[in-house]
Amino acid sequence: MDAFAGSPLGWLCVGVTVLFGVTVLYMTKRNLVEKADVLVWRLLPALLGLLCVATLGTGRGLVVFCTSCLISCVYLGGRALLPVGDKAVLITGSDTGIGHALAKYLDNLGFMVFAGVLNKDGPGAEKLRRTCSQRLSLLQLDITNATQVKEAYLKVSEKVQNTGLWGVVNNAGILGFPADGELLPMSMYRQCMEVNFFGAVEVSKTFLPLLRKSQGRLVNVSSMAGGIPLPRYAAYGASKAALSMFSGVMRQELSKWGIKVAAIHPSGFRTGIEGTSSLWDKQIKELMENLPAHTRQDYGEDYLLGLKSYFLHMPAYCNADLSPVLNAVLHALLAKRPHGLYTPGKGAYMSLCIFCYFPLWFYDFVIGKMMTTESVPRALRTSESESKNL
Ligand SMILES: NC(=O)c1ccc[n+]([C@@H]2O[C@H](COP(=O)([O-])OP(=O)(O)OC[C@H]3O[C@@H](n4cnc5c(N)ncnc54)[C@H](OP(=O)(O)O)[C@@H]3O)[C@@H](O)[C@H]2O)c1
Ligand SMILES: *[C@@H]1O[C@H](CO)[C@@H](O)[C@H](O)[C@H]1NC(C)=O
Ligand SMILES: *[C@@H]1O[C@H](CO)[C@@H](O)[C@H](O)[C@H]1NC(C)=O
Repeated sequence: MDAFAGSPLGWLCVGVTVLFGVTVLYMTKRNLVEKADVLVWRLLPALLGLLCVATLGTGRGLVVFCTSCLISCVYLGGRALLPVGDKAVLITGSDTGIGHALAKYLDNLGFMVFAGVLNKDGPGAEKLRRTCSQRLSLLQLDITNATQVKEAYLKVSEKVQNTGLWGVVNNAGILGFPADGELLPMSMYRQCMEVNFFGAVEVSKTFLPLLRKSQGRLVNVSSMAGGIPLPRYAAYGASKAALSMFSGVMRQELSKWGIKVAAIHPSGFRTGIEGTSSLWDKQIKELMENLPAHTRQDYGEDYLLGLKSYFLHMPAYCNADLSPVLNAVLHALLAKRPHGLYTPGKGAYMSLCIFCYFPLWFYDFVIGKMMTTESVPRALRTSESESKNL
Protein backbone atom coordinates (compact mmCIF):
# COMPACT_ATOMS: atom_id res chain seq x y z
CA MET A 1 0.00 0.00 0.00
CA ASP A 2 2.84 2.40 0.83
CA ALA A 3 3.91 2.30 -2.81
CA PHE A 4 1.27 4.96 -3.43
CA ALA A 5 2.62 7.41 -0.84
CA GLY A 6 3.82 10.70 -2.30
CA SER A 7 3.27 9.55 -5.88
CA PRO A 8 1.15 11.62 -8.25
CA LEU A 9 -1.45 8.87 -8.09
CA GLY A 10 -1.46 9.19 -4.30
CA TRP A 11 -2.11 12.91 -4.48
CA LEU A 12 -4.83 12.34 -7.01
CA CYS A 13 -6.48 9.99 -4.52
CA VAL A 14 -6.23 12.62 -1.80
CA GLY A 15 -7.77 15.17 -4.15
CA VAL A 16 -10.65 12.89 -5.07
CA THR A 17 -11.27 12.04 -1.43
CA VAL A 18 -11.35 15.68 -0.39
CA LEU A 19 -13.66 16.54 -3.27
CA PHE A 20 -15.95 13.67 -2.38
CA GLY A 21 -16.01 14.69 1.28
CA VAL A 22 -16.82 18.31 0.47
CA THR A 23 -19.59 17.30 -1.96
CA VAL A 24 -21.21 15.00 0.55
CA LEU A 25 -20.99 17.64 3.28
CA TYR A 26 -22.62 20.16 0.96
CA MET A 27 -25.33 17.67 0.04
CA THR A 28 -26.19 16.92 3.65
CA LYS A 29 -26.35 20.59 4.37
CA ARG A 30 -28.95 20.96 1.63
CA ASN A 31 -30.97 17.81 2.29
CA LEU A 32 -30.89 17.23 5.97
CA VAL A 33 -33.41 14.47 6.17
CA GLU A 34 -32.82 12.28 3.15
CA LYS A 35 -32.72 8.64 4.06
CA ALA A 36 -29.81 8.14 1.66
CA ASP A 37 -27.63 10.05 4.11
CA VAL A 38 -27.52 7.10 6.46
CA LEU A 39 -26.01 4.95 3.75
CA VAL A 40 -23.57 7.68 2.75
CA TRP A 41 -22.41 8.24 6.29
CA ARG A 42 -21.70 4.55 6.81
CA LEU A 43 -19.92 4.25 3.47
CA LEU A 44 -17.92 7.45 3.50
CA PRO A 45 -15.71 6.82 6.56
CA ALA A 46 -14.76 3.37 5.28
CA LEU A 47 -13.82 4.80 1.90
CA LEU A 48 -11.91 7.70 3.41
CA GLY A 49 -10.00 5.36 5.70
CA LEU A 50 -8.93 3.13 2.87
CA LEU A 51 -7.81 6.06 0.74
CA CYS A 52 -5.87 7.69 3.59
CA VAL A 53 -3.96 4.52 4.35
CA ALA A 54 -3.36 3.93 0.66
CA THR A 55 -1.99 7.39 -0.04
CA LEU A 56 -0.20 8.45 3.14
CA GLY A 57 1.10 5.14 4.42
CA THR A 58 -0.34 3.17 7.34
CA GLY A 59 0.87 5.36 10.22
CA ARG A 60 0.17 8.85 8.89
CA GLY A 61 -2.93 7.61 7.11
CA LEU A 62 -4.44 6.37 10.35
CA VAL A 63 -3.69 9.66 12.14
CA VAL A 64 -5.35 11.70 9.39
CA PHE A 65 -8.29 9.29 9.29
CA CYS A 66 -8.89 9.38 13.06
CA THR A 67 -8.67 13.17 13.20
CA SER A 68 -11.18 13.62 10.39
CA CYS A 69 -13.51 11.08 12.00
CA LEU A 70 -13.39 12.98 15.28
CA ILE A 71 -14.14 16.30 13.57
CA SER A 72 -17.01 14.87 11.53
CA CYS A 73 -18.46 13.13 14.60
CA VAL A 74 -18.56 16.42 16.50
CA TYR A 75 -20.03 18.16 13.47
CA LEU A 76 -22.55 15.46 12.65
CA GLY A 77 -23.58 14.97 16.26
CA GLY A 78 -25.46 18.24 15.94
CA ARG A 79 -27.05 17.18 12.68
CA ALA A 80 -28.41 13.90 13.91
CA LEU A 81 -32.19 13.80 14.16
CA LEU A 82 -34.12 12.47 17.14
CA PRO A 83 -36.67 9.72 16.44
CA VAL A 84 -40.24 10.83 15.73
CA GLY A 85 -41.68 8.30 18.17
CA ASP A 86 -44.99 9.56 19.55
CA LYS A 87 -44.04 13.23 19.54
CA ALA A 88 -46.97 15.64 19.43
CA VAL A 89 -46.75 18.95 17.59
CA LEU A 90 -49.15 21.91 17.39
CA ILE A 91 -49.21 23.93 14.16
CA THR A 92 -51.18 27.18 13.82
CA GLY A 93 -52.68 28.36 10.53
CA SER A 94 -53.05 24.93 8.91
CA ASP A 95 -55.92 25.97 6.62
CA THR A 96 -53.66 26.71 3.69
CA GLY A 97 -50.09 27.18 2.52
CA ILE A 98 -47.07 26.25 4.60
CA GLY A 99 -49.07 25.26 7.70
CA HIS A 100 -51.32 22.99 5.67
CA ALA A 101 -48.39 21.30 3.91
CA LEU A 102 -46.55 21.01 7.20
CA ALA A 103 -49.50 19.31 8.92
CA LYS A 104 -49.65 16.70 6.16
CA TYR A 105 -45.87 16.26 6.10
CA LEU A 106 -45.49 15.74 9.84
CA ASP A 107 -48.55 13.49 9.98
CA ASN A 108 -46.98 11.37 7.26
CA LEU A 109 -43.76 11.09 9.27
CA GLY A 110 -45.68 9.70 12.23
CA PHE A 111 -46.05 12.79 14.43
CA MET A 112 -49.20 13.27 16.44
CA VAL A 113 -50.32 16.53 14.82
CA PHE A 114 -52.62 19.15 16.32
CA ALA A 115 -53.59 21.28 13.35
CA GLY A 116 -54.92 24.66 14.43
CA VAL A 117 -57.23 26.10 11.77
CA LEU A 118 -58.90 29.49 11.45
CA ASN A 119 -62.05 27.81 10.17
CA LYS A 120 -62.84 24.28 11.30
CA ASP A 121 -65.57 23.94 8.67
CA GLY A 122 -63.48 25.40 5.84
CA PRO A 123 -62.06 23.55 2.83
CA GLY A 124 -58.55 23.39 4.31
CA ALA A 125 -59.73 21.64 7.46
CA GLU A 126 -61.92 19.32 5.40
CA LYS A 127 -58.95 18.32 3.26
CA LEU A 128 -56.82 17.53 6.31
CA ARG A 129 -59.64 15.46 7.76
CA ARG A 130 -59.86 13.50 4.53
CA THR A 131 -56.19 12.96 3.72
CA CYS A 132 -54.46 12.60 7.08
CA SER A 133 -54.23 9.74 9.55
CA GLN A 134 -56.37 9.24 12.66
CA ARG A 135 -53.54 10.72 14.75
CA LEU A 136 -54.23 14.21 13.43
CA SER A 137 -56.64 16.36 15.46
CA LEU A 138 -58.14 19.56 14.13
CA LEU A 139 -58.47 22.49 16.49
CA GLN A 140 -60.57 25.59 15.95
CA LEU A 141 -57.87 28.18 16.63
CA ASP A 142 -58.00 31.85 15.71
CA ILE A 143 -54.79 32.91 17.39
CA THR A 144 -56.12 36.42 18.01
CA ASN A 145 -59.02 35.03 20.05
CA ALA A 146 -57.99 34.38 23.65
CA THR A 147 -60.96 32.09 24.26
CA GLN A 148 -60.05 29.84 21.37
CA VAL A 149 -56.39 29.70 22.42
CA LYS A 150 -57.48 28.67 25.93
CA GLU A 151 -59.87 26.02 24.57
CA ALA A 152 -57.18 24.63 22.28
CA TYR A 153 -54.82 24.42 25.23
CA LEU A 154 -57.34 22.44 27.28
CA LYS A 155 -57.97 20.02 24.42
CA VAL A 156 -54.28 19.49 23.73
CA SER A 157 -53.26 19.08 27.35
CA GLU A 158 -56.02 16.54 27.89
CA LYS A 159 -54.87 14.51 24.88
CA VAL A 160 -51.14 14.52 25.57
CA GLN A 161 -51.29 13.81 29.30
CA ASN A 162 -48.68 11.05 29.25
CA THR A 163 -46.52 11.99 26.31
CA GLY A 164 -46.41 15.78 26.63
CA LEU A 165 -46.39 18.28 23.79
CA TRP A 166 -43.07 18.21 21.95
CA GLY A 167 -43.37 21.22 19.67
CA VAL A 168 -45.32 24.36 18.84
CA VAL A 169 -45.01 25.82 15.33
CA ASN A 170 -46.21 29.42 15.19
CA ASN A 171 -47.06 29.51 11.51
CA ALA A 172 -50.30 31.47 11.21
CA GLY A 173 -49.69 34.86 9.68
CA ILE A 174 -51.06 37.50 7.37
CA LEU A 175 -49.30 39.57 4.76
CA GLY A 176 -51.75 42.41 4.40
CA PHE A 177 -51.59 44.62 1.35
CA PRO A 178 -47.96 45.39 0.46
CA ALA A 179 -47.66 49.08 -0.39
CA ASP A 180 -45.59 52.09 0.65
CA GLY A 181 -45.64 52.53 4.42
CA GLU A 182 -47.01 56.05 4.02
CA LEU A 183 -50.09 54.70 2.28
CA LEU A 184 -50.91 51.78 4.56
CA PRO A 185 -53.76 52.53 6.96
CA MET A 186 -53.14 52.23 10.70
CA SER A 187 -55.63 49.37 10.75
CA MET A 188 -53.25 47.31 8.61
CA TYR A 189 -50.32 47.91 10.98
CA ARG A 190 -52.54 46.90 13.88
CA GLN A 191 -53.88 43.81 12.14
CA CYS A 192 -50.41 42.58 11.23
CA MET A 193 -49.22 43.06 14.79
CA GLU A 194 -52.36 41.42 16.10
CA VAL A 195 -51.92 38.18 14.15
CA ASN A 196 -48.20 37.95 13.43
CA PHE A 197 -46.95 39.15 16.79
CA PHE A 198 -49.54 39.19 19.59
CA GLY A 199 -51.19 36.01 18.29
CA ALA A 200 -47.90 34.12 18.26
CA VAL A 201 -46.96 35.47 21.69
CA GLU A 202 -50.27 34.37 23.16
CA VAL A 203 -50.03 30.88 21.68
CA SER A 204 -46.43 30.52 22.89
CA LYS A 205 -47.18 31.75 26.40
CA THR A 206 -50.19 29.48 26.69
CA PHE A 207 -48.40 26.33 25.57
CA LEU A 208 -45.02 26.92 27.26
CA PRO A 209 -45.99 24.96 30.40
CA LEU A 210 -46.47 21.87 28.22
CA LEU A 211 -43.21 22.49 26.38
CA ARG A 212 -41.30 22.93 29.61
CA LYS A 213 -42.54 19.52 30.71
CA SER A 214 -41.29 17.84 27.54
CA GLN A 215 -38.21 20.09 27.12
CA GLY A 216 -39.46 20.49 23.58
CA ARG A 217 -39.23 22.95 20.74
CA LEU A 218 -40.74 26.28 19.85
CA VAL A 219 -40.57 27.16 16.16
CA ASN A 220 -41.63 30.49 14.72
CA VAL A 221 -42.29 30.98 11.07
CA SER A 222 -41.20 34.57 10.76
CA SER A 223 -40.10 35.95 7.42
CA MET A 224 -37.17 37.22 5.43
CA ALA A 225 -38.97 40.57 5.67
CA GLY A 226 -38.68 40.34 9.46
CA GLY A 227 -34.89 40.19 9.36
CA ILE A 228 -34.11 42.80 6.73
CA PRO A 229 -35.94 45.91 5.52
CA LEU A 230 -37.81 45.37 2.25
CA PRO A 231 -39.81 48.05 0.42
CA ARG A 232 -43.64 47.77 0.70
CA TYR A 233 -43.45 45.51 3.75
CA ALA A 234 -43.53 48.16 6.48
CA ALA A 235 -46.49 46.68 8.37
CA TYR A 236 -45.77 43.01 7.73
CA GLY A 237 -42.00 43.33 8.20
CA ALA A 238 -42.32 45.28 11.44
CA SER A 239 -44.66 42.66 12.91
CA LYS A 240 -42.36 39.83 11.83
CA ALA A 241 -39.31 41.70 13.16
CA ALA A 242 -41.06 41.95 16.52
CA LEU A 243 -41.67 38.21 16.39
CA SER A 244 -38.06 37.47 15.46
CA MET A 245 -36.71 39.64 18.27
CA PHE A 246 -39.09 38.02 20.74
CA SER A 247 -37.87 34.65 19.50
CA GLY A 248 -34.27 35.62 20.07
CA VAL A 249 -34.94 36.69 23.65
CA MET A 250 -36.99 33.53 24.27
CA ARG A 251 -34.15 31.41 22.93
CA GLN A 252 -31.89 32.87 25.59
CA GLU A 253 -34.41 32.66 28.42
CA LEU A 254 -35.84 29.22 27.70
CA SER A 255 -32.52 27.42 27.37
CA LYS A 256 -32.47 27.01 31.15
CA TRP A 257 -35.67 24.97 30.82
CA GLY A 258 -34.16 22.81 28.10
CA ILE A 259 -36.46 24.28 25.47
CA LYS A 260 -34.84 25.02 22.12
CA VAL A 261 -36.26 27.80 19.98
CA ALA A 262 -35.79 28.40 16.29
CA ALA A 263 -36.99 31.08 13.91
CA ILE A 264 -37.60 30.36 10.23
CA HIS A 265 -37.13 33.22 7.76
CA PRO A 266 -38.39 31.92 4.41
CA SER A 267 -38.10 33.96 1.23
CA GLY A 268 -40.88 33.81 -1.36
CA PHE A 269 -42.94 30.64 -1.64
CA ARG A 270 -46.10 30.24 -3.67
CA THR A 271 -48.88 29.67 -1.16
CA GLY A 272 -51.69 32.10 -1.82
CA ILE A 273 -50.60 34.44 0.99
CA GLU A 274 -50.30 37.22 -1.60
CA GLY A 275 -54.07 37.15 -2.05
CA THR A 276 -56.33 37.32 -5.06
CA SER A 277 -57.08 40.02 -7.56
CA SER A 278 -60.58 40.71 -6.23
CA LEU A 279 -59.30 40.99 -2.67
CA TRP A 280 -56.71 43.48 -3.83
CA ASP A 281 -59.22 45.60 -5.67
CA LYS A 282 -61.20 45.85 -2.47
CA GLN A 283 -58.12 46.77 -0.45
CA ILE A 284 -56.91 49.35 -2.96
CA LYS A 285 -60.33 50.96 -2.93
CA GLU A 286 -60.33 51.11 0.88
CA LEU A 287 -56.81 52.42 0.90
CA MET A 288 -57.60 55.22 -1.57
CA GLU A 289 -60.72 56.27 0.27
CA ASN A 290 -58.86 56.69 3.53
CA LEU A 291 -55.93 58.68 2.17
CA PRO A 292 -55.66 62.43 2.70
CA ALA A 293 -56.46 64.24 -0.57
CA HIS A 294 -52.96 65.61 -1.17
CA THR A 295 -51.33 62.20 -0.63
CA ARG A 296 -53.80 60.63 -3.03
CA GLN A 297 -52.93 63.33 -5.53
CA ASP A 298 -49.18 62.85 -5.16
CA TYR A 299 -49.21 59.07 -5.53
CA GLY A 300 -52.12 58.74 -7.94
CA GLU A 301 -54.47 55.80 -8.25
CA ASP A 302 -52.57 54.16 -11.09
CA TYR A 303 -49.52 53.92 -8.83
CA LEU A 304 -51.44 51.56 -6.57
CA LEU A 305 -52.80 49.64 -9.53
CA GLY A 306 -49.19 49.24 -10.68
CA LEU A 307 -48.29 47.73 -7.31
CA LYS A 308 -51.11 45.27 -7.72
CA SER A 309 -49.86 43.99 -11.03
CA TYR A 310 -46.39 43.57 -9.53
CA PHE A 311 -47.72 41.39 -6.75
CA LEU A 312 -49.93 39.40 -9.05
CA HIS A 313 -46.82 38.51 -11.02
CA MET A 314 -44.87 37.70 -7.89
CA PRO A 315 -45.97 34.04 -7.62
CA ALA A 316 -44.18 33.37 -10.88
CA TYR A 317 -40.85 34.13 -9.16
CA CYS A 318 -41.73 32.20 -6.04
CA ASN A 319 -40.96 28.57 -5.45
CA ALA A 320 -44.03 26.31 -5.62
CA ASP A 321 -42.12 23.53 -3.89
CA LEU A 322 -42.43 24.12 -0.14
CA SER A 323 -40.02 21.35 0.85
CA PRO A 324 -37.14 23.67 1.87
CA VAL A 325 -39.42 25.22 4.49
CA LEU A 326 -40.77 21.84 5.59
CA ASN A 327 -37.24 20.47 5.95
CA ALA A 328 -36.18 23.51 7.97
CA VAL A 329 -39.10 23.07 10.37
CA LEU A 330 -38.41 19.35 10.70
CA HIS A 331 -34.78 20.05 11.51
CA ALA A 332 -35.81 22.65 14.08
CA LEU A 333 -38.14 20.09 15.67
CA LEU A 334 -35.92 17.02 15.65
CA ALA A 335 -32.23 17.94 15.40
CA LYS A 336 -30.27 17.34 18.56
CA ARG A 337 -28.77 20.77 18.09
CA PRO A 338 -31.19 22.86 16.02
CA HIS A 339 -30.08 26.20 14.58
CA GLY A 340 -31.46 29.44 15.97
CA LEU A 341 -32.27 30.73 12.50
CA TYR A 342 -33.19 29.01 9.23
CA THR A 343 -33.33 30.81 5.89
CA PRO A 344 -35.04 28.49 3.37
CA GLY A 345 -35.73 29.74 -0.15
CA LYS A 346 -34.01 31.62 -2.91
CA GLY A 347 -32.16 34.75 -1.86
CA ALA A 348 -33.10 34.59 1.82
CA TYR A 349 -29.59 33.87 3.08
CA MET A 350 -27.87 36.03 0.50
CA SER A 351 -29.87 39.17 1.29
CA LEU A 352 -29.35 38.65 5.01
CA CYS A 353 -25.58 38.39 4.45
CA ILE A 354 -25.52 41.56 2.38
CA PHE A 355 -27.53 43.34 5.06
CA CYS A 356 -25.25 42.13 7.85
CA TYR A 357 -21.82 42.45 6.28
CA PHE A 358 -22.01 45.28 3.76
CA PRO A 359 -22.58 49.03 4.08
CA LEU A 360 -26.26 49.99 4.20
CA TRP A 361 -26.09 52.00 0.98
CA PHE A 362 -24.95 48.88 -0.86
CA TYR A 363 -27.76 46.80 0.65
CA ASP A 364 -30.32 49.46 -0.31
CA PHE A 365 -28.93 49.56 -3.83
CA VAL A 366 -29.19 45.77 -4.28
CA ILE A 367 -32.70 45.55 -2.81
CA GLY A 368 -33.79 48.54 -4.87
CA LYS A 369 -32.71 46.66 -8.00
CA MET A 370 -34.32 43.42 -6.85
CA MET A 371 -37.66 44.81 -5.73
CA THR A 372 -38.17 47.46 -8.37
CA THR A 373 -41.62 48.18 -9.80
CA GLU A 374 -42.58 50.03 -12.93
CA SER A 375 -44.98 52.07 -10.83
CA VAL A 376 -43.92 55.70 -10.27
CA PRO A 377 -45.96 58.11 -8.11
CA ARG A 378 -47.75 60.71 -10.18
CA ALA A 379 -45.97 63.68 -8.63
CA LEU A 380 -42.57 62.20 -9.54
CA ARG A 381 -43.45 61.10 -13.01
CA THR A 382 -42.74 64.30 -14.92
CA SER A 383 -39.30 64.87 -13.42
CA GLU A 384 -38.52 61.19 -14.02
CA SER A 385 -39.34 61.37 -17.71
CA GLU A 386 -37.40 64.63 -17.99
CA SER A 387 -34.29 63.05 -16.56
CA LYS A 388 -34.67 60.15 -19.00
CA ASN A 389 -34.67 62.59 -21.90
CA LEU A 390 -31.44 64.26 -20.80
N1 LIG B 1 -45.26 32.27 1.49
C1 LIG B 1 -44.17 32.94 1.66
O1 LIG B 1 -43.51 33.27 0.71
C2 LIG B 1 -43.72 33.32 3.02
C3 LIG B 1 -42.51 33.96 3.15
C4 LIG B 1 -42.06 34.32 4.41
C5 LIG B 1 -42.83 34.01 5.51
N2 LIG B 1 -44.02 33.38 5.38
C6 LIG B 1 -44.78 33.10 6.58
O2 LIG B 1 -45.17 31.78 6.60
C7 LIG B 1 -46.38 31.66 7.32
C8 LIG B 1 -47.37 30.86 6.50
O3 LIG B 1 -47.64 31.57 5.33
P1 LIG B 1 -48.24 30.97 4.03
O4 LIG B 1 -47.41 31.46 2.92
O5 LIG B 1 -48.44 29.54 4.19
O6 LIG B 1 -49.61 31.79 3.95
P2 LIG B 1 -51.10 31.35 4.02
O7 LIG B 1 -51.36 30.30 3.00
O8 LIG B 1 -51.93 32.58 3.96
O9 LIG B 1 -51.18 30.67 5.43
C9 LIG B 1 -51.40 31.38 6.62
C10 LIG B 1 -52.45 30.68 7.39
O10 LIG B 1 -52.73 31.36 8.61
C11 LIG B 1 -54.12 31.45 8.77
N3 LIG B 1 -54.50 32.57 9.63
C12 LIG B 1 -54.65 33.89 9.32
N4 LIG B 1 -55.01 34.58 10.39
C13 LIG B 1 -55.14 33.70 11.41
C14 LIG B 1 -55.52 33.80 12.76
N5 LIG B 1 -55.88 34.97 13.30
N6 LIG B 1 -55.53 32.69 13.52
C15 LIG B 1 -55.19 31.51 12.97
N7 LIG B 1 -54.83 31.34 11.72
C16 LIG B 1 -54.79 32.42 10.93
C17 LIG B 1 -54.63 31.60 7.38
O11 LIG B 1 -56.00 31.26 7.33
P3 LIG B 1 -56.91 31.78 6.11
O12 LIG B 1 -56.30 31.22 4.87
O13 LIG B 1 -58.23 31.21 6.40
O14 LIG B 1 -56.84 33.27 6.16
C18 LIG B 1 -53.77 30.64 6.62
O15 LIG B 1 -54.27 29.34 6.66
C19 LIG B 1 -46.87 33.05 7.64
O16 LIG B 1 -46.53 33.36 8.98
C20 LIG B 1 -46.07 33.88 6.68
O17 LIG B 1 -45.89 35.17 7.16
C21 LIG B 1 -44.47 33.03 4.14
C1 LIG C 1 -63.78 33.95 20.10
O1 LIG C 1 -64.07 32.58 20.09
C2 LIG C 1 -65.26 32.26 20.81
C3 LIG C 1 -65.35 30.76 20.89
O2 LIG C 1 -65.19 30.14 19.65
C4 LIG C 1 -66.44 32.90 20.09
O3 LIG C 1 -67.64 32.58 20.76
C5 LIG C 1 -66.23 34.40 20.06
O4 LIG C 1 -67.23 35.02 19.31
C6 LIG C 1 -64.87 34.72 19.44
N1 LIG C 1 -64.61 36.14 19.61
C7 LIG C 1 -64.28 36.94 18.61
C8 LIG C 1 -64.03 38.34 18.95
O5 LIG C 1 -64.21 36.53 17.48
C1 LIG D 1 -41.65 32.63 18.84
O1 LIG D 1 -42.36 33.75 19.20
C2 LIG D 1 -42.96 33.67 20.44
C3 LIG D 1 -43.81 34.87 20.60
O2 LIG D 1 -43.38 35.93 19.84
C4 LIG D 1 -41.93 33.53 21.51
O3 LIG D 1 -42.55 33.34 22.75
C5 LIG D 1 -41.09 32.33 21.19
O4 LIG D 1 -40.05 32.18 22.06
C6 LIG D 1 -40.55 32.40 19.80
N1 LIG D 1 -39.88 31.19 19.47
C7 LIG D 1 -38.99 31.07 18.54
C8 LIG D 1 -38.42 29.73 18.39
O5 LIG D 1 -38.65 31.94 17.83
